[in-house]
Amino acid sequence: MEGSAGAGPVSLSLGWVAPRDAGWVGVAAPAAEGAAGAGWAWLPPAWQARAVERDVAEVSTWLSEAHQVVALTGAGISTGSGIPDYRGPNGLWTKDPRAARTSSLSHYLADGEVRRLAWRNRLSSPVWGAVPNPGHAALVALERAGHLSAVVTQNVDELHQRAGHDPARVLELHGTMFWSRCWSCGDRRPMAEALARVRDGEEDPRCAAEPAGFRAEAPLGPDRAGGGPYCGGVLRSDTISFGQALDPAVLGAAQEVVREADLVVAIGSSLTVQPAAGLVPLARRSGARVVIVNAAPTRLDAVADAVVSGEISVVLPALVAGAGLTLPAPAAG
Ligand SMILES: NC(=O)c1ccc[n+]([C@@H]2O[C@H](COP(=O)([O-])OP(=O)(O)OC[C@H]3O[C@@H](n4cnc5c(N)ncnc54)[C@H](O)[C@@H]3O)[C@@H](O)[C@H]2O)c1
Ligand SMILES: [Zn+2]
Repeated sequence: MEGSAGAGPVSLSLGWVAPRDAGWVGVAAPAAEGAAGAGWAWLPPAWQARAVERDVAEVSTWLSEAHQVVALTGAGISTGSGIPDYRGPNGLWTKDPRAARTSSLSHYLADGEVRRLAWRNRLSSPVWGAVPNPGHAALVALERAGHLSAVVTQNVDELHQRAGHDPARVLELHGTMFWSRCWSCGDRRPMAEALARVRDGEEDPRCAAEPAGFRAEAPLGPDRAGGGPYCGGVLRSDTISFGQALDPAVLGAAQEVVREADLVVAIGSSLTVQPAAGLVPLARRSGARVVIVNAAPTRLDAVADAVVSGEISVVLPALVAGAGLTLPAPAAG
């Protein structure tokens, strides 16, 4: 892989859209290798469009030249599908800091009230009815044209798979909401089963799996309360909570594809959650170009070769169109 830092005609990158005196925006010049951070300047409105166009064209060229693009996605790619992120302006935690407790493993295991809140939130989650948006479709276009080697996602909403990726190319660092898992015995089942029980009135459903070796004469079911033993462990969604380690196989596979990548595009992530965020400096160390696409500045903007700020469902289609690719038609359903 060719190193990119400091090489090539990288122009100004639109760094953030921070209204300051009648629409001026801050603009970051990409940081050179080893530099502490990017240089900042303020651009008047008339210059902004030029800077964005130039950036989009530059990054589009990189995409069209790349053979092993890795998209590293976060919650921001799914807000356009109606799923709130955590830390954006309409983020779940921005609006209600108490919501963070349901994402903490220790709180979830110790506190029935936290679990009941989590189940209510799951039942009414926008994830179940969400459909992929043009940002997801743009990544599918990259894959179909043979440029994309993997999507490494922090998301748990399965929208990348539904958008049409080869599922084998989607690495879910933080698991999926579409399955439940028992904390005691590890039993994994479709989430729909647990949600049906919540809908039927169980506020904190417990694992209904038979303990290993148990052979019930009657099948487990609604009558199990009067029947034989069942696990009874705490049920969770099959996702990674704060305080929990990632699946080493999935993390290892993600590190591998990033090491092999020639271009890594971090999309819609505040890049604050580890170890996912660490994949960005890993990409840089491994010689890949790094592009960040996000509405707000991230902690790792200074590591990137280019930062494109804007609405993901607009920016990504523009980037792949600039690379000469056509978006696939929306997946049915
Ligand atoms: N859809 C999901 O699956 C989902 C939703 C919420 C949280 N999470 C989980 O929460 C954690 C949150 O970390 P994170 O870094 O992914 O998210 P985050 O909430 O920390 O950051 C999201 C970033 O995306 C930006 N953003 C939001 N909508 C955007 C848009 N339409 N266009 C451009 N930028 C936009 C925000 O400004 C923010 O910087 C992850 O671990 C993830 O697993 C997942
Ligand atoms: Zn169990």
